[in-house]
Amino acid sequence: MKGKDIMNVLITGATGGIGQALIEVFYRNRWNILAVGRNKKILEELKLKYGDKIEIYSRDIEKEEEIKKFLQEIENIEINLLINGAGIGEIGEFENISLIEEQRMINLNIQALLTLTKHFYKKMLEREEGGIINISSTAGFQVGGPLMCGYYATKAYVNSLTFGLIEESKGKNIKIMLLCPGPTATNFKGMNREIEGAKKLYVTTPEEVANQCYRDYISGKNLSIPGKVNKILYYLNRFIPWKIQLKNIEKIQRKKQKETLK
Ligand SMILES: NC(=O)c1ccc[n+]([C@@H]2O[C@H](COP(=O)([O-])OP(=O)(O)OC[C@H]3O[C@@H](n4cnc5c(N)ncnc54)[C@H](OP(=O)(O)O)[C@@H]3O)[C@@H](O)[C@H]2O)c1
Repeated sequence: MKGKDIMNVLITGATGGIGQALIEVFYRNRWNILAVGRNKKILEELKLKYGDKIEIYSRDIEKEEEIKKFLQEIENIEINLLINGAGIGEIGEFENISLIEEQRMINLNIQALLTLTKHFYKKMLEREEGGIINISSTAGFQVGGPLMCGYYATKAYVNSLTFGLIEESKGKNIKIMLLCPGPTATNFKGMNREIEGAKKLYVTTPEEVANQCYRDYISGKNLSIPGKVNKILYYLNRFIPWKIQLKNIEKIQRKKQKETLK
């Protein structure tokens, strides 16, 4: 990466809270941005705001075919950094989340991330240069996530895949980083509500997440956990018996579910 003037970052989930904050950070640091999401209105607003520093792509990456076509379309663009940020989560009892919703989470949070990671990792290996940031969640470190069973399971996959790749990529001049935000105030399911009282202590803003992500990536870290409280909980979590972890998560998600329904 050294010595290059123009760097291209491809960001999925670009129309969401964390994605838009990442675009702002990378724009300030003079990167060219390829922004992927479905929401055309937001994508056009991003184009107006960032002009020729951004290219927008309205694509549904839950669909394998759309990803294939998209990859052919951008075949000649060198991607120096891939950020897999697109993700969805469903909250509720397992029996109340439809199989289709579960499969959509797998298609986006796992399948799309896997396809893009494999495609660009191979290209980066050939060039001996590049980087990948996979956006997971602190949920990915938990043994399971009652009331968000499917979502937590997808993030456990992202954590495991990324940690494996961190080790495999050593010595190849490819930087792999796992970004694990805790609760963040965006439109994400269960988070699109007023952040007040004690929640302010641990709920991060998308801007905090994006700034921390950028700093950690540039300084060569492999794991980025934005927010002091989230970092402390990450370390403490390993000393909590798994049955107690599950009970605590159930309580938190039950409360979130009630607040979302208000
Ligand atoms: N917010 C949190 O509390 C939190 C905590 C930990 C981890 N995370 C993770 O952070 C990432 C970003 O989440 P966020 O908080 O920024 O959520 P968000 O505001 O809901 O953004 C989700 C993004 O995913 C994109 N997306 C959804 N379905 C898509 C599809 N079929 N094809 C293409 N793009 C699609 C959305 O774009 P369109 O709607 O335009 O398609 C949007 O850009 C996710 O991976 C999430 O799991 C979030």
